[in-house]
Amino acid sequence: MAICALLTEALSVFLYREWGLTEVDIRWEFPFQDYGDTATPLAFHLAKRLRQSPVAIAERLACEVQKCRGVERCDVAGAGYVNVWFTSSFLIEELGVVHQVCSPLPLHCDRAPVIIDYSSPNIAKPLGIHHILSTIIGQTLGNLYVHAGYPVVRWNYIGDWGTQYGKLAVAYERWGGRRLPESFTLDELLALYVRFHEEAERDVSLESSAQEAFKKLESGDPKLRLIWEAFVAITKHANDQVYQRLRVHFDVGLGESAYEGKIGSILDEGKRKGVFREGERGALIIDFFQENLPTAVVLKSDGSTVYFTRDLALMRDRIDRWHPSAILHVVDSAQSLYFQQLFATARQLQWEVPHLEHVVFGRMRFADVEMSTRKGTILKLEHVLDEAVDRAGSVIDQHRDTIQTDDRNALAEMMGTGALVYGILSQNRKMDIIFDWDRFLSFDGNSAPYFQYTYARARSVLRKAGGEGAIANVASLTPTERSLVVQLLQFPSVLQESRDDRMPHKLCQYLYQLCQAYNAFYNVDPILTATSSVRDMRLFFTSCTASVLRTGAGLLTLQVPDRM
Ligand code: ARG
Repeated sequence: MAICALLTEALSVFLYREWGLTEVDIRWEFPFQDYGDTATPLAFHLAKRLRQSPVAIAERLACEVQKCRGVERCDVAGAGYVNVWFTSSFLIEELGVVHQVCSPLPLHCDRAPVIIDYSSPNIAKPLGIHHILSTIIGQTLGNLYVHAGYPVVRWNYIGDWGTQYGKLAVAYERWGGRRLPESFTLDELLALYVRFHEEAERDVSLESSAQEAFKKLESGDPKLRLIWEAFVAITKHANDQVYQRLRVHFDVGLGESAYEGKIGSILDEGKRKGVFREGERGALIIDFFQENLPTAVVLKSDGSTVYFTRDLALMRDRIDRWHPSAILHVVDSAQSLYFQQLFATARQLQWEVPHLEHVVFGRMRFADVEMSTRKGTILKLEHVLDEAVDRAGSVIDQHRDTIQTDDRNALAEMMGTGALVYGILSQNRKMDIIFDWDRFLSFDGNSAPYFQYTYARARSVLRKAGGEGAIANVASLTPTERSLVVQLLQFPSVLQESRDDRMPHKLCQYLYQLCQAYNAFYNVDPILTATSSVRDMRLFFTSCTASVLRTGAGLLTLQVPDRM
C-alpha cells in the first residue's frame, strides 16, 4: 500500500544497516483501529534469525518507524506487534492517489505477456453452471493484469478434438435425420451425444465405429471435416452469447484441433531424448519416477493422439510464439495431477519454460437440494443466469419502497448476473464453492446487491451535491472518517495481492469492508449539511469510494447502477 511504502523503505534501510539483512519481506496488516492504522508482525519473523526476543526487536523497529514522515504514534503491542498510527493530514494528503490507481496503468509493451488459459470448454455441449468458475476467475485475473499494465493473452483453449467427436459423427449419421449439420442447435448436438451413450450400452460396436470415425477425421476426411466444422461454429456462436452477458472476452480462441498437426515433432523429440518409451501394444508413454507421479500416455496404441500431447504441443507453441513470462491454467482441481505430469514432462524434455501454474479451484456445491440432485442432465449456465435475473427482479419488487430505478429490467440483469458472479468470486477458490441463492442475493452481506446499493448511494450523494468534492484543510478526522480513509488507501496493495496470489476473493473481501466503512461513515457523519471545508472533504471521500467501487466492480466483471 502506498501509505506503507515509506515505512517499508525506512525499515529496509534499518535492517540492512543494523543487522546486514537484505530482501526481507515486510508486510503490513490492517487490524481493528484500536491497534493502529496498520501493523506489522515483522519482529516475530526476525526473532529466530536474530536470536533476540520479538519484543526487543519490535522496540527497535518502532523507534525507526516513529521517525517516518506522517507517523503520529508507533507502539509495540503484545508479544511483538508494531502498531502504527498516521497523522490525519498525512492520510488526507495520500488520498490524492486513490483516483489515480482507479485508472489502468498504460500498457508496458516491453514486458513479456502473461498467458491466461481459462473457460476452455469442450464443444458440442452447452456451457454448464460449473464452467462459470474457470470463466470468471480467469477473466478477473486477466483484468487485474491488464489494469496493472501487463500485456495479457486471454486464451479460450476449446476442446474441439478427441474421440468424442467420432461419437458425435456416428450419432449424426445414424439419428441426425439427414439434416444439414449447420441446422442443429447446441441442445440437439448434446442430445445426439447423450443418445450415443444410451445406445452404446446395448450395441458395443458403436464405440469402435466412433473410433474409426475419429481416425478418419484425424486423417482429413473432407465430409467428416465439414460436419465437425459446423458443430464447432454452432458451439462458438452459442457460447459467445453467454460470454457477452458475463463481460468475458478472449484474445485467442485456438483449441485442441489447432495442435493436432504439431504433435509429430513433439513425439520425435520425446523419443530422441529418451523421455517417451514404448508401452503396451505399441502405445507411447512417459514415466515420472523422480517426480513420483503415475505414468502418462502420450500416444494411444491405435495411433490416435491424446489431450496430454496436444497440451504439450500447445505449450511449445505458446513459448515459441508469445515468449510469455507466465502461463496460468485456470482449471478445476480434478486436473491437478494432470498438470503436474504436464509440467514435469516439459522439464524432462529440458524445455526452457516460463512460470507455469495451475490456478486450481474447488468443486461447486449446491445449498439448494433440487439443484444438487439433478443427475445426468446438465444445468445450463444460460438458464442459471436467467434464473438469477428473475430472482433479482423479485427482490427489486419486494423492496419497491427502498429501491428506486428507472429501468427495472436493466437493474435486474446487472443485479442478477452480478449476484451470481460476485457470489462465486467472493469465495476462496481453493475451497469448495458453495452455490447459495439466498446468500448471493442478500442485501446485507458480502454480496453484489449490497455492493451495488452502496455504490448507488455514493452516486446519489454526489448527484445531490452537484460535485465530486476536493481535498480540504480539515483539522482532524472522526473515527468513521478515519476508518474509511485507511480502507481507501489500501486499494493499490489489495489489487497487487489479489493478482499475485491469483485470489479474486481478496478483492471482494476488501470491497465489502469498504462498503461497510462507507455506510458507517454515511450514517454517522453528515455530508451534505456539513460546513464548507468539511463538506468538500466528505464529498471527496464519497467520490473516492465511488471510484474504487466502480473500478473493483469492473475488474470483477460486474456492473454498478447509478441509481438504485
Ligand atoms: N477442455 C478442458 C476441459 O474441459 C479444459 C482445458 C484446460 N486447458 C488446458 N490447457 N488443458 O476439461
